[in-house]
Amino acid sequence: MKVYRDPSSLIKKVREIKKQGYKIGLVPTMGFLHEGHMSLVRKARKDTDCVIVSIFVNPAQFGPGEDFKKYPRALKKDLVLCEKEGVDIIFAPESKKMYPRGYSTYVNVEKITDTLCGASRPGHFRGVSTVVAKFFNIITPDIAYFGRKDAQQAIVIKRMAEDLNMGVEIKVMPIVREKDGLAMSSRNVYLNRRERSEAQCIYKSLKSAKKLFNSGERDSKKIINKIKRVINSQPDTKIDYAAIVGTKDLRDIKKISGEALIAVAVKIGKTRLIDNIVLK
Ligand code: PAJ
Repeated sequence: MKVYRDPSSLIKKVREIKKQGYKIGLVPTMGFLHEGHMSLVRKARKDTDCVIVSIFVNPAQFGPGEDFKKYPRALKKDLVLCEKEGVDIIFAPESKKMYPRGYSTYVNVEKITDTLCGASRPGHFRGVSTVVAKFFNIITPDIAYFGRKDAQQAIVIKRMAEDLNMGVEIKVMPIVREKDGLAMSSRNVYLNRRERSEAQCIYKSLKSAKKLFNSGERDSKKIINKIKRVINSQPDTKIDYAAIVGTKDLRDIKKISGEALIAVAVKIGKTRLIDNIVLK
Protein backbone atom coordinates (compact mmCIF):
# COMPACT_ATOMS: atom_id res chain seq x y z
CA MET A 1 0.00 0.00 0.00
CA LYS A 2 1.39 3.36 -1.00
CA VAL A 3 0.41 6.77 0.35
CA TYR A 4 0.22 9.69 -2.10
CA ARG A 5 0.13 13.22 -0.77
CA ASP A 6 0.40 15.08 -4.02
CA PRO A 7 -2.32 15.09 -6.74
CA SER A 8 0.15 15.31 -9.65
CA SER A 9 2.15 12.25 -8.60
CA LEU A 10 -1.07 10.25 -8.19
CA ILE A 11 -2.26 11.36 -11.65
CA LYS A 12 0.93 9.87 -13.09
CA LYS A 13 0.54 6.63 -11.16
CA VAL A 14 -3.10 6.28 -12.22
CA ARG A 15 -2.06 6.59 -15.88
CA GLU A 16 0.29 3.59 -15.43
CA ILE A 17 -2.41 1.58 -13.68
CA LYS A 18 -4.88 2.28 -16.48
CA LYS A 19 -2.36 1.29 -19.16
CA GLN A 20 -2.26 -2.14 -17.56
CA GLY A 21 -6.02 -2.38 -17.99
CA TYR A 22 -6.84 -2.46 -14.28
CA LYS A 23 -10.25 -1.41 -13.00
CA ILE A 24 -10.04 1.31 -10.32
CA GLY A 25 -12.38 1.56 -7.33
CA LEU A 26 -12.43 4.76 -5.26
CA VAL A 27 -13.68 5.18 -1.69
CA PRO A 28 -13.66 8.88 -0.73
CA THR A 29 -13.51 9.51 3.05
CA MET A 30 -12.58 12.12 5.61
CA GLY A 31 -10.75 9.48 7.67
CA PHE A 32 -11.24 8.40 11.29
CA LEU A 33 -12.37 5.20 9.64
CA HIS A 34 -14.98 2.85 11.08
CA GLU A 35 -16.91 -0.21 9.88
CA GLY A 36 -19.17 1.99 7.72
CA HIS A 37 -16.17 3.13 5.70
CA MET A 38 -14.63 -0.34 5.70
CA SER A 39 -17.81 -1.88 4.24
CA LEU A 40 -17.28 0.37 1.21
CA VAL A 41 -13.61 -0.62 1.02
CA ARG A 42 -14.50 -4.34 1.08
CA LYS A 43 -17.05 -3.90 -1.67
CA ALA A 44 -14.49 -2.01 -3.77
CA ARG A 45 -11.95 -4.79 -3.10
CA LYS A 46 -14.45 -7.36 -4.42
CA ASP A 47 -15.44 -5.39 -7.52
CA THR A 48 -12.20 -3.82 -8.73
CA ASP A 49 -8.47 -4.51 -9.29
CA CYS A 50 -7.03 -1.39 -7.71
CA VAL A 51 -8.63 0.11 -4.59
CA ILE A 52 -7.87 3.75 -3.80
CA VAL A 53 -9.07 5.31 -0.53
CA SER A 54 -8.92 9.08 -0.19
CA ILE A 55 -8.53 10.51 3.30
CA PHE A 56 -9.04 14.25 3.36
CA VAL A 57 -10.93 16.46 5.79
CA ASN A 58 -12.24 18.83 3.17
CA PRO A 59 -12.34 22.42 4.47
CA ALA A 60 -14.63 23.51 1.61
CA GLN A 61 -17.59 21.51 2.95
CA PHE A 62 -17.54 22.92 6.48
CA GLY A 63 -19.41 26.14 7.21
CA PRO A 64 -18.14 28.86 9.51
CA GLY A 65 -18.64 27.76 13.10
CA GLU A 66 -18.76 24.07 12.12
CA ASP A 67 -16.35 21.41 13.37
CA PHE A 68 -13.58 21.51 10.72
CA LYS A 69 -10.82 22.15 13.26
CA LYS A 70 -11.94 19.59 15.80
CA TYR A 71 -13.06 16.94 13.27
CA PRO A 72 -11.39 13.72 14.53
CA ARG A 73 -8.25 12.63 12.70
CA ALA A 74 -6.26 9.39 13.09
CA LEU A 75 -4.25 8.85 9.92
CA LYS A 76 -1.90 6.20 11.34
CA LYS A 77 -4.74 4.04 12.58
CA ASP A 78 -6.61 4.56 9.29
CA LEU A 79 -3.58 3.33 7.35
CA VAL A 80 -3.41 0.15 9.45
CA LEU A 81 -7.11 -0.56 8.81
CA CYS A 82 -6.73 0.03 5.06
CA GLU A 83 -3.61 -2.10 4.81
CA LYS A 84 -5.50 -4.95 6.53
CA GLU A 85 -8.29 -4.75 3.95
CA GLY A 86 -5.86 -4.88 1.04
CA VAL A 87 -6.17 -1.26 -0.11
CA ASP A 88 -3.64 -0.50 -2.86
CA ILE A 89 -3.34 3.28 -2.65
CA ILE A 90 -4.15 5.96 -0.08
CA PHE A 91 -4.60 9.51 -1.29
CA ALA A 92 -4.13 11.84 1.69
CA PRO A 93 -3.40 15.25 0.21
CA GLU A 94 -2.54 18.38 2.11
CA SER A 95 -5.13 21.11 1.94
CA LYS A 96 -2.65 23.42 0.17
CA LYS A 97 -2.32 20.92 -2.67
CA MET A 98 -6.08 20.63 -3.13
CA TYR A 99 -6.86 24.32 -2.75
CA PRO A 100 -3.71 26.27 -3.62
CA ARG A 101 -3.59 30.05 -3.50
CA GLY A 102 -5.87 31.50 -6.18
CA TYR A 103 -8.19 28.48 -6.23
CA SER A 104 -11.54 29.60 -7.70
CA THR A 105 -13.45 26.71 -9.28
CA TYR A 106 -16.49 25.09 -7.64
CA VAL A 107 -19.11 22.56 -8.72
CA ASN A 108 -22.66 23.37 -7.72
CA VAL A 109 -25.47 20.84 -8.08
CA GLU A 110 -28.73 22.77 -8.04
CA LYS A 111 -32.24 22.16 -6.59
CA ILE A 112 -31.61 18.85 -4.76
CA THR A 113 -29.10 20.70 -2.58
CA ASP A 114 -31.67 23.28 -1.44
CA THR A 115 -33.39 20.94 1.04
CA LEU A 116 -32.52 18.83 4.10
CA CYS A 117 -28.80 19.15 4.95
CA GLY A 118 -28.38 21.64 2.11
CA ALA A 119 -30.87 23.99 3.79
CA SER A 120 -29.26 23.67 7.23
CA ARG A 121 -25.68 23.79 5.99
CA PRO A 122 -25.44 26.38 3.19
CA GLY A 123 -22.49 25.71 0.89
CA HIS A 124 -21.92 22.22 2.29
CA PHE A 125 -22.80 20.31 -0.88
CA ARG A 126 -20.91 22.79 -3.04
CA GLY A 127 -17.83 21.79 -1.03
CA VAL A 128 -18.64 18.09 -1.27
CA SER A 129 -19.32 18.04 -5.01
CA THR A 130 -16.23 20.14 -5.70
CA VAL A 131 -13.86 17.88 -3.79
CA VAL A 132 -15.42 14.69 -5.18
CA ALA A 133 -15.17 16.11 -8.73
CA LYS A 134 -11.48 16.79 -8.05
CA PHE A 135 -11.00 13.18 -6.83
CA PHE A 136 -12.75 11.88 -9.94
CA ASN A 137 -10.46 13.98 -12.16
CA ILE A 138 -7.30 12.94 -10.35
CA ILE A 139 -8.16 9.24 -9.99
CA THR A 140 -10.57 8.60 -12.90
CA PRO A 141 -12.15 5.66 -11.06
CA ASP A 142 -14.34 3.13 -12.85
CA ILE A 143 -16.53 2.83 -9.75
CA ALA A 144 -16.83 5.12 -6.72
CA TYR A 145 -18.46 3.95 -3.49
CA PHE A 146 -20.66 5.98 -1.16
CA GLY A 147 -22.76 5.13 1.91
CA ARG A 148 -26.53 5.54 2.15
CA LYS A 149 -25.89 7.00 5.61
CA ASP A 150 -25.39 10.29 3.75
CA ALA A 151 -28.34 9.71 1.44
CA GLN A 152 -28.56 13.24 0.08
CA GLN A 153 -24.82 13.32 -0.57
CA ALA A 154 -25.03 10.09 -2.61
CA ILE A 155 -27.92 11.49 -4.65
CA VAL A 156 -26.04 14.75 -5.26
CA ILE A 157 -22.89 12.92 -6.37
CA LYS A 158 -24.89 10.66 -8.70
CA ARG A 159 -26.52 13.72 -10.23
CA MET A 160 -23.15 15.45 -10.69
CA ALA A 161 -21.49 12.41 -12.26
CA GLU A 162 -24.37 12.02 -14.68
CA ASP A 163 -24.81 15.72 -15.50
CA LEU A 164 -21.10 16.28 -16.12
CA ASN A 165 -20.59 13.00 -18.04
CA MET A 166 -17.89 11.89 -15.65
CA GLY A 167 -18.06 8.28 -16.81
CA VAL A 168 -17.84 6.88 -13.30
CA GLU A 169 -20.32 4.42 -11.86
CA ILE A 170 -21.62 5.40 -8.41
CA LYS A 171 -22.45 2.54 -6.05
CA VAL A 172 -24.38 3.29 -2.87
CA MET A 173 -24.02 0.83 0.01
CA PRO A 174 -26.25 0.17 3.06
CA ILE A 175 -25.89 1.92 6.42
CA VAL A 176 -23.70 0.12 8.94
CA ARG A 177 -24.99 0.50 12.50
CA GLU A 178 -23.76 0.00 16.06
CA LYS A 179 -25.39 -2.81 18.06
CA ASP A 180 -28.04 -0.46 19.46
CA GLY A 181 -28.92 0.82 15.99
CA LEU A 182 -27.03 4.14 15.98
CA ALA A 183 -25.61 4.73 12.49
CA MET A 184 -21.81 4.63 12.62
CA SER A 185 -20.25 8.05 12.17
CA SER A 186 -16.86 9.60 12.85
CA ARG A 187 -18.78 12.26 14.78
CA ASN A 188 -20.15 9.74 17.31
CA VAL A 189 -16.93 10.25 19.34
CA TYR A 190 -18.16 13.73 20.22
CA LEU A 191 -20.99 12.23 22.31
CA ASN A 192 -20.60 11.89 26.06
CA ARG A 193 -22.11 8.86 27.77
CA ARG A 194 -25.51 10.36 28.36
CA GLU A 195 -25.72 11.76 24.83
CA ARG A 196 -24.56 8.44 23.38
CA SER A 197 -27.38 6.68 25.16
CA GLU A 198 -29.93 9.30 24.07
CA ALA A 199 -28.71 8.95 20.48
CA GLN A 200 -30.42 5.55 20.25
CA CYS A 201 -33.69 7.44 19.85
CA ILE A 202 -32.78 8.43 16.28
CA TYR A 203 -32.90 4.93 14.81
CA LYS A 204 -35.74 4.01 17.18
CA SER A 205 -37.78 6.86 15.72
CA LEU A 206 -37.10 5.63 12.18
CA LYS A 207 -38.06 2.08 13.12
CA SER A 208 -41.31 3.23 14.68
CA ALA A 209 -42.00 5.24 11.52
CA LYS A 210 -41.48 2.14 9.43
CA LYS A 211 -43.81 0.20 11.70
CA LEU A 212 -46.54 2.80 11.22
CA PHE A 213 -45.98 2.65 7.45
CA ASN A 214 -46.12 -1.15 7.47
CA SER A 215 -49.40 -1.02 9.36
CA GLY A 216 -50.87 0.98 6.48
CA GLU A 217 -50.26 4.64 7.40
CA ARG A 218 -49.49 6.74 4.31
CA ASP A 219 -49.93 10.26 5.69
CA SER A 220 -46.42 11.75 6.00
CA LYS A 221 -47.46 14.25 8.65
CA LYS A 222 -48.64 11.51 10.98
CA ILE A 223 -45.46 9.50 10.46
CA ILE A 224 -43.26 12.57 11.00
CA ASN A 225 -45.14 13.41 14.18
CA LYS A 226 -44.40 9.95 15.49
CA ILE A 227 -40.69 10.45 14.73
CA LYS A 228 -40.70 13.82 16.48
CA ARG A 229 -42.37 12.36 19.58
CA VAL A 230 -39.75 9.60 19.91
CA ILE A 231 -36.81 11.98 19.44
CA ASN A 232 -38.22 14.74 21.63
CA SER A 233 -38.70 12.26 24.47
CA GLN A 234 -34.96 12.64 25.14
CA PRO A 235 -33.91 15.81 26.98
CA ASP A 236 -30.76 16.80 25.06
CA THR A 237 -32.12 16.38 21.53
CA LYS A 238 -33.11 19.09 19.09
CA ILE A 239 -34.55 18.12 15.72
CA ASP A 240 -32.99 19.97 12.79
CA TYR A 241 -35.30 18.30 10.28
CA ALA A 242 -37.48 15.21 9.94
CA ALA A 243 -38.79 14.79 6.41
CA ILE A 244 -40.34 12.29 4.04
CA VAL A 245 -39.10 12.94 0.50
CA GLY A 246 -38.80 11.34 -2.93
CA THR A 247 -35.70 9.16 -3.25
CA LYS A 248 -34.57 10.89 -6.45
CA ASP A 249 -35.81 14.50 -6.35
CA LEU A 250 -35.80 14.85 -2.54
CA ARG A 251 -39.08 16.73 -2.71
CA ASP A 252 -41.52 16.54 0.19
CA ILE A 253 -44.15 13.83 -0.12
CA LYS A 254 -47.55 14.35 1.54
CA LYS A 255 -49.13 10.97 0.81
CA ILE A 256 -46.69 8.11 0.35
CA SER A 257 -47.38 5.99 -2.72
CA GLY A 258 -44.14 4.70 -4.25
CA GLU A 259 -40.69 4.71 -2.71
CA ALA A 260 -39.90 7.34 -0.07
CA LEU A 261 -36.93 8.39 2.00
CA ILE A 262 -37.37 9.35 5.63
CA ALA A 263 -34.44 11.55 6.58
CA VAL A 264 -33.66 13.09 9.95
CA ALA A 265 -30.99 15.38 11.36
CA VAL A 266 -30.81 15.74 15.11
CA LYS A 267 -28.58 17.74 17.39
CA ILE A 268 -27.65 15.91 20.56
CA GLY A 269 -25.96 18.43 22.76
CA LYS A 270 -23.57 20.08 20.32
CA THR A 271 -23.30 17.11 17.96
CA ARG A 272 -25.35 17.00 14.77
CA LEU A 273 -26.19 13.47 13.59
CA ILE A 274 -28.11 12.30 10.53
CA ASP A 275 -29.87 9.07 9.69
CA ASN A 276 -32.44 7.77 7.26
CA ILE A 277 -34.50 4.81 6.15
CA VAL A 278 -36.13 3.96 2.83
CA LEU A 279 -39.82 2.99 2.67
CA LYS A 280 -40.80 0.70 -0.16
P1 PAJ B 1 -17.12 10.55 5.54
O1 PAJ B 1 -18.12 11.11 6.48
O2 PAJ B 1 -15.78 10.14 6.06
O3 PAJ B 1 -17.79 9.31 4.83
C1 PAJ B 1 -17.15 8.66 3.78
C2 PAJ B 1 -18.11 7.67 3.16
O4 PAJ B 1 -18.47 6.68 4.11
C3 PAJ B 1 -19.41 8.34 2.70
O5 PAJ B 1 -19.81 7.82 1.44
C4 PAJ B 1 -20.38 7.95 3.80
O6 PAJ B 1 -21.73 7.91 3.37
C5 PAJ B 1 -19.87 6.56 4.16
N1 PAJ B 1 -20.33 6.20 5.51
C6 PAJ B 1 -20.14 6.90 6.64
N2 PAJ B 1 -20.75 6.28 7.68
C7 PAJ B 1 -21.35 5.18 7.18
C8 PAJ B 1 -22.14 4.14 7.73
N3 PAJ B 1 -22.45 4.09 9.03
N4 PAJ B 1 -22.59 3.16 6.91
C9 PAJ B 1 -22.29 3.19 5.59
N5 PAJ B 1 -21.54 4.14 5.01
C10 PAJ B 1 -21.07 5.12 5.78
O7 PAJ B 1 -18.91 11.67 3.43
C11 PAJ B 1 -17.79 12.14 3.52
O8 PAJ B 1 -16.82 11.61 4.35
C12 PAJ B 1 -17.34 13.35 2.72
O9 PAJ B 1 -18.41 14.20 2.52
C13 PAJ B 1 -16.68 12.97 1.37
C14 PAJ B 1 -17.64 12.25 0.43
C15 PAJ B 1 -15.42 12.12 1.59
C16 PAJ B 1 -16.23 14.28 0.65
O10 PAJ B 1 -15.35 15.02 1.43
